[in-house]
Amino acid sequence: MLQVKDLSKHYGSTAVFSHVSLDVAAGEFVALMGESGVGKSTLLNCMAGLDPWDSGSVQLDGVDVGALSDDQRAALRREKIGFVFQAFHVLPHLDVTQNVALPLLLLGRPDAARVAAMLKAVGLEGLGARLPQQLSGGQLQRVAIARALVHSPRLILADEPTGNLDPETAAVVMDALVAQTRLHGASLVLVTHSAAATEKADRVLRLSARGLSAASAAV
Ligand SMILES: Nc1ncnc2c1ncn2[C@@H]1O[C@H](COP(=O)(O)OP(=O)(O)O)[C@@H](O)[C@H]1O
Ligand SMILES: [Mg+2]
Repeated sequence: MLQVKDLSKHYGSTAVFSHVSLDVAAGEFVALMGESGVGKSTLLNCMAGLDPWDSGSVQLDGVDVGALSDDQRAALRREKIGFVFQAFHVLPHLDVTQNVALPLLLLGRPDAARVAAMLKAVGLEGLGARLPQQLSGGQLQRVAIARALVHSPRLILADEPTGNLDPETAAVVMDALVAQTRLHGASLVLVTHSAAATEKADRVLRLSARGLSAASAAV
């Protein structure tokens, strides 16, 4: 599904990461750990073709992401990837339903029934007309999860999605993310520090200055 080969990236003279290789199978859940500043977010952005890299390659569903134009990359991302960020990134002027419907609109495939089903699946039934400012953090992140999955992307990239939530809410939101991703058969690359989350992963990897390596799930 996702193949990262020998990927290296620098900012100026500083290497963010070097020679990172990773294969994620269809439906696989990979948890990615590592200290702050080690390059986890940058690696995720490269996987999505949002950030450029210096050498190596990223293949998504058989497509060489580095060989695409900006427009082609954006189109591939819209179709194949769902994102969940720590800071939610829910659009403040759109209501819950409109936020979740957005990926389908961008693909020219509006589907109100599908949006309603996703809201129900993440426990937001009846809240579709609310604006983001009328929601709790846990609810906002569930909007983001519904939005990430509504167009049935093959790959979900989640960057510390529960980092802004209290532990109890974090557990509920993480369960929703993992359960919904599994239900859709999507692959999941999840950056997290949560031991509870890594226990559910098929594989746990650690990014460090020395590169990417297998980590024990018990942290
Ligand atoms: N746009 C940028 N310009 C220069 N350095 C950056 C930029 N973005 C991130 N960095 C640096 O790259 C390193 C990795 O950042 P990041 O991927 O955010 O790490 P993590 O997500 O693991 O905390 C950090 O040292 C950070 O300061
Ligand atoms: Mg980060």
